[in-house]
Amino acid sequence: MNKQELFETAVAMVADNKGLLAADESTGTMGKRLDSIGVENVEEKRRDYREMMFRSDGIGSYISGVILYDETIRQSAADGTTLVKILQDAGVIPGIKVDAGAKELPGRPAEKITEGLDGLPKRVAEYYDLGARFAKWRAVIDIADGIPSRYAIHTNAHALARYAKICQEGGLCPIVEPEVLMDGAHDIDRCQEVTEEVLDAVYNELHLQEVYLEGTILKPNMVIAGKKCATQASPEEVAAKTVETLLRKVPAAVPGIMFLSGGQSEEDATLHLDLMNASGANLPWQLSFSYGRALQQSALQAWKGDNANNSAAQQAFIERASANSRACAGTYSKAA
Ligand code: 13P
Repeated sequence: MNKQELFETAVAMVADNKGLLAADESTGTMGKRLDSIGVENVEEKRRDYREMMFRSDGIGSYISGVILYDETIRQSAADGTTLVKILQDAGVIPGIKVDAGAKELPGRPAEKITEGLDGLPKRVAEYYDLGARFAKWRAVIDIADGIPSRYAIHTNAHALARYAKICQEGGLCPIVEPEVLMDGAHDIDRCQEVTEEVLDAVYNELHLQEVYLEGTILKPNMVIAGKKCATQASPEEVAAKTVETLLRKVPAAVPGIMFLSGGQSEEDATLHLDLMNASGANLPWQLSFSYGRALQQSALQAWKGDNANNSAAQQAFIERASANSRACAGTYSKAA
């Protein structure tokens, strides 16, 4: 394992108030996004949309890396340049989603286990050759009556650690993503309780499986009330409880924590991150973003499937990227 390379990649991912663009939607998820703007889910449209974002002027000032999907890391732009090269030329590190999705947990149909470990060392080697320097694996934990079970938490934590160790052996810095969903009706305190239990299990497994923490990135949910909860917490409470949870559970050796947006609005996702960084607390890790929907929503709406709208869509994308970069510095709401 090349510890130095892994550490340098992790540090570069959170350097200079930059964050990640999660553009690793599977073909099915991309279909839902394109459907929302009335565009057919074909390879050319998926390529055009992502090429548009990757070619945005100034992307490298706000975005340190992009998480790609298997199709995208092999794809070329309309002019023949690979999408990987477009990113590298802009100073952006290519990354790759390596999980095969969250499937039904055996014996527990309401819960999920993420698959994709079989053959992973070989795929990691191939992705490294294609230019990837970091990877992502997402575990999904749902909150409802009687769940999550210990079984779901433990098996997902175990798989995350297996994935992380395999990636490190192959030179890819692993993004460890245990997502506690915000789909339920639970309040913020229940989210905090479950998030703490999940992070405990994850760091215990990472320790048992001898994962080098300095060469990892954590991608957690924020501590937030479920969307269907009648009592929504204030942005200040979300920021405070998220930081409190992370301070309790995430070792200081981890260089960076890059949040998912998980269904928050673009504005909420930026504001919450900003409040955490503006709090003045002396935190042991960088707090940044690895947003999918919260970086792409406005851009997708502006693009509408038509390359004639590229410039408007790029402007919308850069506006969110720059706002989130300011949130990394804790200067977003102060300036607004
Ligand atoms: P969202 O920010 O849309 O939740 O996506 C981030 C991601 O990569 C989820 O795995």
